[in-house]
Amino acid sequence: MAVSIRPLLPLLLFLIPFFYSVSVLHQKWNPEDTKKLSPKRPDQLILGPAAGQGLPNRLQCQGVRAMNKIDPSTKNSHSGDQISFVTVFTIYKSDPTNEKILDKVTVGEILYSAKSERSLAILNTYINFIQVSMPSSNVVVLTDPDSTFLLDRNNAIKLPIEGDYSRSNLMLQRIKSYIAYLKRIQESYEMEKSNKNIIFSDSDIAVVDNLGDIFQKHPDFHMALTFRNNKNQPLNSGFIAVRGTQDGISKAIVILEEVLDVYMSKYMGASRMLGDQLALYWVIKSHLPSAMQQFNRHESFTGKVKGVSVLFLPCAIYNWTPPEGAGQFHGMPLNVKIVHFKGSRKRLMLESWNFYNSTSNISNMLCLILCSGRTKYDF
Ligand SMILES: *[C@@H]1O[C@H](CO)[C@@H](O)[C@H](O)[C@H]1NC(C)=O
Ligand SMILES: *[C@@H]1O[C@H](CO)[C@@H](O)[C@H](O)[C@H]1NC(C)=O
Repeated sequence: MAVSIRPLLPLLLFLIPFFYSVSVLHQKWNPEDTKKLSPKRPDQLILGPAAGQGLPNRLQCQGVRAMNKIDPSTKNSHSGDQISFVTVFTIYKSDPTNEKILDKVTVGEILYSAKSERSLAILNTYINFIQVSMPSSNVVVLTDPDSTFLLDRNNAIKLPIEGDYSRSNLMLQRIKSYIAYLKRIQESYEMEKSNKNIIFSDSDIAVVDNLGDIFQKHPDFHMALTFRNNKNQPLNSGFIAVRGTQDGISKAIVILEEVLDVYMSKYMGASRMLGDQLALYWVIKSHLPSAMQQFNRHESFTGKVKGVSVLFLPCAIYNWTPPEGAGQFHGMPLNVKIVHFKGSRKRLMLESWNFYNSTSNISNMLCLILCSGRTKYDF
């Protein structure tokens, strides 16, 4: 046929995003129905209604179109926003389950079979989001010197630190590696002209906006922690910000060393995911009992802990976690800066990146997350 499609090309390009969202929207609408249909978790995104519609200061969505979120990437080019994101990651070489072939999961065009492949994809996605949301920041991956995974990224480096990174010891090792990292920075401090502020974080998070303003809005803290209204575990050990001054670094070491001591003396028996969180809470509680009353409010506050100025930020301000199940669910705050894809939400992290990569629109991606966040996905 001699018909050229060239005149149609602009029209097609215009329609592609439309087809994309329609095909997403036409997937099953009600998470409860699918549960009844199959005991297995769904292997594609399921969109439900967005929570928080009509509420003030909440993201408003029409399908996967954001109606009120200003695109975050337009306001993030201050030079003061260079942050080193530091995370602990390893692939357990001695763990045969890692290479086990699991149920196939495809996200975008990529098929993930082995568990190690999925872990690495999460790490790379964490790095991708930082690259997009905070382009002048970098990522440092603290890892077992024996780990063999490849990290070929221009905004991220692997930094081997000796230790025991076995699964059962990982949370304890994480604190040790954080301390070792801070000590290295401290040693090289004289040589560096200026140091970056540091954020220690889990790697199952997507940074969707500039976090540098924590350091600017609150110029006096050494270390910042986030809290939530949860009686037994109000502090989140998955996010620790440290000011990159000599003082900030040495004070953060003081706190982390005490957390490490408390962990080893009191919480070695705690479930492996909790020990560091409980130890962190114990340290704060014993030096700053007045903090306890403030954990059920929603305002940030500061306090002195062993001479260290600690800023407490309400998780609800920055950090949003898709809730488990369909219970209370007040939508997504407009100023969200981090989305945390815990546990069964990890697959959604890759889906979100895949959506962002084809649409370049963070606000719309947040709608996708909001609409899919109640479902547990297979990954
Ligand atoms: C993202 O999408 C929203 C809603 O469709 C739109 O208002 C906004 O301008 C888009 N941003 C970019 C950078 O395209
Ligand atoms: C983004 O999508 C393109 C194809 O559209 C693909 O080649 C590329 O690998 C993707 N990038 C990431 C980081 O996923």
